[in-house]
Amino acid sequence: MNIAVIGTGYVGLVTGACFAEMGNQVVCVDQDRQKISALGQGDVLIHEPGLEDIVRRNLAKGRLSFTTRLELALQSANIIFIAVGTPQKSDGCADTGHVLEVATKIGETLSGPATICIKSTVPVGTTEKVDNIIRKALARRRVNYRHDIASNPEFLREGSAIHDFMCPDRVIVGCHSKRAARIMRQLYEPCLKDSEHLLIMGLRESELSKYAANAMLATRISFINEIALIAEELNADIEEIQRGIGSDRRIGPHFLKPGCGYGGSCFPKYVRALVNIAKQNGIAALLLGAVDERNEAQKQILHRKLENIFEGDLGGRRIAILGLAFKPETDDLREAPAIALIHQLHASGANIAAHDPAANAAARMLQSTGLLPSSGLEILDDIEASIRGADALVLVTEWPQFKQINFHRARQLMHTPVIIDGRNLLDADALGRLGFLYSGVARKASSERTYTISAKQRPASEQATLQS
Ligand SMILES: NC(=O)c1ccc[n+]([C@@H]2O[C@H](COP(=O)([O-])OP(=O)(O)OC[C@H]3O[C@@H](n4cnc5c(N)ncnc54)[C@H](O)[C@@H]3O)[C@@H](O)[C@H]2O)c1
Repeated sequence: MNIAVIGTGYVGLVTGACFAEMGNQVVCVDQDRQKISALGQGDVLIHEPGLEDIVRRNLAKGRLSFTTRLELALQSANIIFIAVGTPQKSDGCADTGHVLEVATKIGETLSGPATICIKSTVPVGTTEKVDNIIRKALARRRVNYRHDIASNPEFLREGSAIHDFMCPDRVIVGCHSKRAARIMRQLYEPCLKDSEHLLIMGLRESELSKYAANAMLATRISFINEIALIAEELNADIEEIQRGIGSDRRIGPHFLKPGCGYGGSCFPKYVRALVNIAKQNGIAALLLGAVDERNEAQKQILHRKLENIFEGDLGGRRIAILGLAFKPETDDLREAPAIALIHQLHASGANIAAHDPAANAAARMLQSTGLLPSSGLEILDDIEASIRGADALVLVTEWPQFKQINFHRARQLMHTPVIIDGRNLLDADALGRLGFLYSGVARKASSERTYTISAKQRPASEQATLQS
């Protein structure tokens, strides 16, 4: 099939590259000239495991190409995906401006029949709006190409996007036409486990399913985070509770890991958008509002733990932050808990030495545009350099390589042996044996070793540094 994908970000690029890998002819379009020029050379500017290999292989085979010119991409396309961004507006609603602008351009440019699919996450009713815009533009041109409209929300996760796209749990297609349903079934056939995994439904149901799925996952995270807060106060170990509830088949173990809050371009944005959609329709989304509030509060727990340990005085302390991206295997910093922590520490007068295996360049970009502090924040490519002389090490993103750190050496490099583990990734007992003061999220060892440690109980060397 001949496919055009408009918007070549995380979703558009993965969509285009994977459909090319399945043997289709794909043209990806973006308004960002720099991005398109790099992609044309096979250079993928985002960190997504396996993506660059697929892009290069399909460029070489002539199945994938990149352009800034929409009209070129539409010339021979019989399926058009809209995958442009839908950023959050200041009132929490999704900004569908890019999607509607692209719809207008498609209507002005289309030169034959096509199926047009909305892959961007859009509020209910947007796909119908896109359809109307295209219809009117075609009528103005006095042409009557048959076009079908479909909603095809994307469920990939950054960091495992290729696997998620190639082996999806399910593919949702919202459409009213049998022809569109048939074409989408044919297109997705190579990656479907069986025909049951393609769910055909109405446009509105498809659009709302995407929001509801993300809100459900965010709710589970905020739920376990709230239970973790209670557990920590009661000196109960959250990992035991996770096992206790996750083994109930009605509940299941997924998305029940406590931490320092969720981030990224999806969960926070979609939960707030859904709250707004509900409000606009006269419904107070009490539960979803609380999910968002709990998450914002959760982004403060690491700072609060540091304040407790250093008795409210973080001024001049050197704090090593390990992990900036909102999750491992991505360089995406959108709504990342580490960004919130940096601002809180900066306001407390701490000096921050941050390191991320993939997101350092993106963080420096934020620093250069004033979105991260320019003073008191070093972004270091060398993990040892960030740990050296630190009063505390705070793990914010669960990159697996952080488990491999030689903590014996880290103990020698650090000024004060304090570790705050915002993802419960590390071996609390082993760190305790090495003489670290360890605090995780509601891990029993953490409560014992932090909040109940009095100055008298601390080793002499620690007393001197913790209290200086
Ligand atoms: N990132 C994710 O994990 C994820 C997962 C599922 C769904 N989504 C949704 O998919 C959509 C895209 O997300 P993303 O993360 O890929 O966004 P992104 O910001 O990474 O990429 C969007 C791209 O669209 C381009 N663009 C914007 N307006 C354009 C126009 N008029 N013409 C051509 N290109 C244009 C931008 O230059 C950018 O490259 C959003 O609605 C998002 O909510 C994202």
